[in-house]
Amino acid sequence: MEVNGKTRTLGLFGNPVAHTYSPFIQNLLAQYMEINSVYMPFKVDEGKLSDAVNGAKAMNFLGNNVTVPYKVDVINYMDVLDENAEMIGAVNTIKYTNGLTYGYNTDGEGLIMSCKKSGIAFKDKTVCILGAGGAAKAVAVACAKVQVKKIYIINRTIEKAKVIAEIIKKYFNTEVIVADYNQLEALKPIDICFQTTSIGMHPNVEACPITDNSFFENMEWAVDIIYNPCETRFLKQAKEMGISTLNGLGMLYFQAVKAFEIWNDTLVPEEIVDIIYQKFYNHVYET
Ligand code: ATR
Repeated sequence: MEVNGKTRTLGLFGNPVAHTYSPFIQNLLAQYMEINSVYMPFKVDEGKLSDAVNGAKAMNFLGNNVTVPYKVDVINYMDVLDENAEMIGAVNTIKYTNGLTYGYNTDGEGLIMSCKKSGIAFKDKTVCILGAGGAAKAVAVACAKVQVKKIYIINRTIEKAKVIAEIIKKYFNTEVIVADYNQLEALKPIDICFQTTSIGMHPNVEACPITDNSFFENMEWAVDIIYNPCETRFLKQAKEMGISTLNGLGMLYFQAVKAFEIWNDTLVPEEIVDIIYQKFYNHVYET
């Protein structure tokens, strides 16, 4: 669709933003859904986040995504938070409506949509989350929401795992246990393990938080939120143990689809979701 006087503006606030895939996904979604909008990357310098949000609002932007390092800070500029953003304490999607800023967090939902698409079931499962950063928080809340039975949170810095456990206990009845990497043997059986740390991300592709492959025994799924490389060492090791694996590309894609649906108050038909995912996959891995 050509850009004209009625085109609505969307964009990503972050720093850096040079390698983002969000414009690729969002502009394709708009094209296939025949919505007159354009999505751009916006590098926001340190200390300029409030200028960016107020500027976007002043210029009648439809919405924004927010990425590193602003997902937590941006909460200060939101008038209303949705349930996920409130629980997680981070916003990745803003919508401007009637002069108000609405903050959402679609990361966890994106992961669950990606997992469900691959056939992963959650109800009454025991899940293990490696890491306790911002991503782990979104994953833990998302798992509690889909009614897993038990959540283990494993982190080098145990205090950070405890913070997430407290959030889960505040909002859900899910059993949560925190542990460190020396206690992994005692946790079995685990049905699904989520790798949410940056360990194994390009260029450190040989790194892995799991040293002993027996950790994967009797597991159903190993999920890494990293998508570069396509197969992390963690996923490679899981595969060697006969475990089904999923990388983080779907999470990235579906958090974007969810944001698009919020901005446009619509649902993207599954057929279009699938076509664009295939294009996105090819764009990332086959170019
Ligand atoms: P994100 O928002 O992407 O989750 P983050 O908040 O910086 O990023 O969190 C990074 C996670 O990776 C943390 O759980 C971190 O562990 P600590 O809390 O102990 O720092 C984990 N992590 C990163 N590098 C690690 C390493 N070399 N060994 C163990 N854990 C690591």
